Amino acid sequence: MFEKLKLINQRPAIWSRYTAALLWDDKHTSEQMLQLHLNHDVDIASRRTSFIDRSVGWMNTQFNINTNTKICDFGCGPGLYTIRFAQLGAEVTGVDFSTRSIDYARTQAEKASLSINYVNQDYLQFEGDIQYNLITLLMCDFCALSPQQRSQLLNKFHALLDDSGHVVFDVYSLAGFGRREEVTQYAHNLLNGFWAVEEYYGFLNTFLYTEEHVALDKYALFTKEREWEVYNWLQYFSLDSLRKEIELAGFTITATYSDVAGGNYDDDKSEFAVGIRKQ
Ligand SMILES: C[S@@+](CC[C@H](N)C(=O)[O-])C[C@H]1O[C@@H](n2cnc3c(N)ncnc32)[C@H](O)[C@@H]1O
Repeated sequence: MFEKLKLINQRPAIWSRYTAALLWDDKHTSEQMLQLHLNHDVDIASRRTSFIDRSVGWMNTQFNINTNTKICDFGCGPGLYTIRFAQLGAEVTGVDFSTRSIDYARTQAEKASLSINYVNQDYLQFEGDIQYNLITLLMCDFCALSPQQRSQLLNKFHALLDDSGHVVFDVYSLAGFGRREEVTQYAHNLLNGFWAVEEYYGFLNTFLYTEEHVALDKYALFTKEREWEVYNWLQYFSLDSLRKEIELAGFTITATYSDVAGGNYDDDKSEFAVGIRKQ
C-alpha cells in the first residue's frame, strides 16, 4: 500500500506516457465526453454553441468558405465545426480517434444530407492526398501533444496544406500557466462517476514542470477489477515559443488572436490563437 501510494504521488518524467485515447475513446468516458461536447452552455470538451457559431462565422469572413474550399478539422469531435463548414458549401474532412464522436458526427451529417468525410483515426497517423485550403485544430488540442508529436503534426499540416492555405489553432498561454497550481486530490468516484460506471476510487495529482511550462493532470483510478492511469499533459506557450515551433516546420504566423473567433490578442488571457501559412 505504502509503495503504491508513493508511486501514485511520484512526479513522472515529462511527456513519459501518452494516454489520450483512454480519455477520449474509452467506452465509458467517451460517452461522458460526448455529453459534454453537446452541452450548449459549457466550455468543456467543446466550446458553447454561441462561440462555435461566432468562430465559424469569423473563419468564413477570413477565408471566404465556399464550394471551392477544402477544409480538414483535426480532432473534430462530434463534428460541431465540420457540419457548419459543410453547410457553407465546403468539402470537409474531419479526423478523430473517438469512435463514439465520429459515429455521432456521421449520423448528424446524414440527417442534414451533407457529405462529410469522417475519418476515425489517430490524427498523428492521418494521411491524405487532398491539398486543403484550411486546416483547423480547435480547443487547444495542440497543447496535449509532446514536442516530438507537435513537430510531427506540424509537418503533416505542411504536407497537406495548399501553398496558399491557412492553419488556424489555439493554445494555452503563459498567463494560463501562471494560474495553475500543484494539487493532490483523492475521492470516492472522483469527478462524480466520470471515470467508470462501477464504484471506484480516484487520485488526481497535478504536477507542474516550471522550466518547460508544462502541467500534468495525472489520474490514478481503481475499481474492484481494474487499475489504470490517465495522463493529461498540457504545454503552455508564449508567442515566441510557439513561433519557434511553427517556423521550424516551415510556417509563418500571419495573425494572432485571443481565440479562434478572431478576438484581439491579449497576453493576460489564458489562451491565444494563431493563423499560420507556409513560409
Ligand atoms: C478538446 S476536444 C475538441 C473537439 C473539437 N475540436 C471541438 O472543439 O468541438 C479534442 C478532440 O480531439 C480528439 N483527439 C485528441 N487526440 C487525438 C488524436 N491523437 N487523434 C485523433 N483525435 C484526437 C478527441 O477525441 C476530441 O474529440
